[in-house]
Amino acid sequence: MEWYFSEWAHYVVRWTHLITGIAWIGSSFYFMWLDAALEKPKAQTKPDVEGELWMVHSGGFYEVERKRITPATMPAKLHWFKYEALFTWISGICLLVLAYYLNASAMMIDSGKTQLTAEQSIYLSVGTLIITWFLYDGLWQSTIGKKLPGLALAISLSIVASAAFLFAHYFSGRAAAIHLGAMMGTWMVANVWVRILPAQSKMVDATREGRTPDYALSGHAKKRSVHNTYMTFPVLFMMLSNHFPHTFGNSMNAVILLLMIVFGAGVRHVMVAKDRSRYWILVPTAASALALVFTAATQKESDGAGTSKIDRNQVVKFSVIQDIVQRRCVTCHADKPAISTFGPSPGGVKLDLTQGLAERLKSLTDKIQLRVIQTRTMPPANISHLQDDERELIGLWLSQGAKPE
Ligand code: HEC
Repeated sequence: MEWYFSEWAHYVVRWTHLITGIAWIGSSFYFMWLDAALEKPKAQTKPDVEGELWMVHSGGFYEVERKRITPATMPAKLHWFKYEALFTWISGICLLVLAYYLNASAMMIDSGKTQLTAEQSIYLSVGTLIITWFLYDGLWQSTIGKKLPGLALAISLSIVASAAFLFAHYFSGRAAAIHLGAMMGTWMVANVWVRILPAQSKMVDATREGRTPDYALSGHAKKRSVHNTYMTFPVLFMMLSNHFPHTFGNSMNAVILLLMIVFGAGVRHVMVAKDRSRYWILVPTAASALALVFTAATQKESDGAGTSKIDRNQVVKFSVIQDIVQRRCVTCHADKPAISTFGPSPGGVKLDLTQGLAERLKSLTDKIQLRVIQTRTMPPANISHLQDDERELIGLWLSQGAKPE
């Protein structure tokens, strides 16, 4: 019964994360687009208007003006966009706890590669999420960030790259992708709450009190906001890469994550390009997309093949496969699995069959090829210690037509 409530908890939290995330990214993209689309007013009658625009949506006509605010024009009611970011982060952290920390030995680490215990992997996760924010924020608050933005950018990117390799080294492929996304997502939310909102508050207060607001504050806030827009696509790509075993199950997953950043940031750059001189960025963007596809295609499937101990000309007997499935798969893929953390028959795959197992495996050929043979992302974290030659035997039997004899 426990898994049942945990499944609903996952569902509710995931749902919240998605909805708040859509609201946050939607509004931030809208403002990004708006800033790029606003035009300087032609009439001299509106000195406080920096830009204006007419829009039509669902039959309604909207006139938007971007203004410098003065005590006289300060509205009584001012809408702030702030909870979208906060709730996206809170629900994201809940999801991290539910899906990864509570199931750390299967989700955080990979018995094939790390020396960490499940507990240590959680410390590493919490530690890096907190520390990297202070590194990034401290950097941009320092003289380097204020005077030498190019250098600050290079250092920021090297923090991200180091984190990608650190995560890829210690965490399972899935956890590595999620953590790099969570790290950048944390920077984005902290940018909003620690830098952008307080700056806006100060400007509003100053205006209300009749003082001239410090427009340098607005400049600093804008800088963080621009960072956020560049991080958005990479973070989305990383979070969604969890559904694509070729990306997270790849031995070069750190490189793949970095290519996602180049590609995502490039797309963002082109999206708001007003003058054509910015289009040169399409070249590295397209190059990173191609590199991404090719890197993801180079799998470690050949790893075992060279050193393989099994005879690839043999006809694999079904009884051999039955035995492997019984020992390495049924622990999870059953109605009442021995490892119950994933619930009954995870992924909708039930393999504790007395009849028709061969047909079932045959119908799953593509998925088994992808998860068990090519990307080795199944069993998760190789909890049931599936051996390399067993993987090969499964692959060989499938390629021989998955016959039940
Ligand atoms: C530790 C538990 C566990 C073990 C052991 C395990 N699986 Fe899975 N399997 C899962 C979970 C959880 C999912 C669903 C999530 C996912 O796709 O990663 C899944 C999903 C699958 C899928 C569906 C994948 C898809 O893309 O839809 C297949 C096929 C599969 N497993 C085959 C196997 C085979 C074959 C074995 C034995 C060699 C095996 N599993 C061992 C937990 C396990």
